[in-house]
Amino acid sequence: MDDIKQKLGRHHRRRRHFYRRRQCRSRSIVERKKMKRQLLDCVAAVSNSPCLSSSYHFYPTIITLTMAADIPYSLLDGKYKFPHIGLGTFKGHSGDSEVYEATKVALDNGYRHIDTAHVYQTEKAVGKAIRDHPTVTRDEVFVVSKLWQTFHQPEHVQPAINLTLQNLGFESLDLYLMHWPMAWEFKGYEFEDMRRCDAQGHIECVDVPVIDTWRAMEKLVENGSTKLIGVSNFTIPMLEQLLAECKIKPVVNEIEVHPSFPQTELVEYCQQKGIVVSAYSPLGNPGYRGNNIPVIDEPKIIEIAKKYNLSPQQLFLSYGVSRGYAVIPKSVTPSRIKDNIHYVKIADEDIKEITEIGLRHKIRTCDPVEMFGPANDIFGEH
Ligand SMILES: NC(=O)c1ccc[n+]([C@@H]2O[C@H](COP(=O)([O-])OP(=O)(O)OC[C@H]3O[C@@H](n4cnc5c(N)ncnc54)[C@H](OP(=O)(O)O)[C@@H]3O)[C@@H](O)[C@H]2O)c1
Repeated sequence: MDDIKQKLGRHHRRRRHFYRRRQCRSRSIVERKKMKRQLLDCVAAVSNSPCLSSSYHFYPTIITLTMAADIPYSLLDGKYKFPHIGLGTFKGHSGDSEVYEATKVALDNGYRHIDTAHVYQTEKAVGKAIRDHPTVTRDEVFVVSKLWQTFHQPEHVQPAINLTLQNLGFESLDLYLMHWPMAWEFKGYEFEDMRRCDAQGHIECVDVPVIDTWRAMEKLVENGSTKLIGVSNFTIPMLEQLLAECKIKPVVNEIEVHPSFPQTELVEYCQQKGIVVSAYSPLGNPGYRGNNIPVIDEPKIIEIAKKYNLSPQQLFLSYGVSRGYAVIPKSVTPSRIKDNIHYVKIADEDIKEITEIGLRHKIRTCDPVEMFGPANDIFGEH
């Protein structure tokens, strides 16, 4: 325990030193990077200590710590830092150059977690922005990408990640997610082959068991194509089945979560199982349906936001991080990218109140039936 106390003491001294060095603009970039690494290594060493684990763990295998920029993070697989605020890059109407600039602005402002996917067609812009960055190195950024439904047959999994790595210009990925739990017929590796639907705009599913795809994803960890694997849009029964059959456990479940869709049961289940939740559409995806989710205009939400000196959008993000999971807001607007990485711990009673207000306007914004057709009713909500 003395050893741990010494490490903590050293950590606090280095932390003070680290903030002092902010004022010292003359220090070289190389020196600054070295100091930051030392600080993070020290935090990781302390957090890995079995002596401290009982008091510092929130959940069995999830450790939530604070990064140098005061952004909490989890240590995935006990060693990979997964910052709890990341940049979403679903392209929507944004062009390549906007996504490139957005990633650059995000890196300049302390983001070290970027969420992309093969189907977003943003991998090239994200990879180039990371590779071009003058001070942030590839190994400092946690990059997530995803396997699309047309690549679920085991023989397509390795070629699919190879395409992702080629787009990013990386040798290896940090986290590869199964984007959705359903499989579609393989039509080719071109983008237009990935969303081919029938005349009604519907896509049928094919019978490829999740475990068959997962086994092929496990091989990607074994051969170094990615450090970690996880899932997205998985429900509790789907996770139960995967956990019973897998050799390598999913480290992350990326799901829609925001005050109007708090997913309390699923979030708690993942936390109990040591699966970190990454919340997509954490702002309720304003703009997708042409406007904000209504909860953002509630007077009580505005009042709580004011109490913490936050905008309602910042409150939604800090609400998520304070509930113990990652949020990945998308923006291509520099001022919003900067605003979105501001985190304040929200008190439990305010989290409860925000959730209650949010639930009065319950909405799932990313509905697979609306997007892909009735065969894709994986949540059983239609
Ligand atoms: N795994 C999955 O199935 C899945 C599904 C959906 C999304 N995702 C991931 O999650 C990310 C985020 O989700 P999302 O894009 O659906 O929705 P979101 O992050 O909730 O909302 C994005 C929208 O909010 C706007 N915005 C961002 N910050 C703002 C702020 N501070 N104030 C006001 N408006 C703000 C953005 O506009 P501007 O860009 O114009 O600033 C954009 O229109 C995606 O980009 C993607 O990486 C994953």
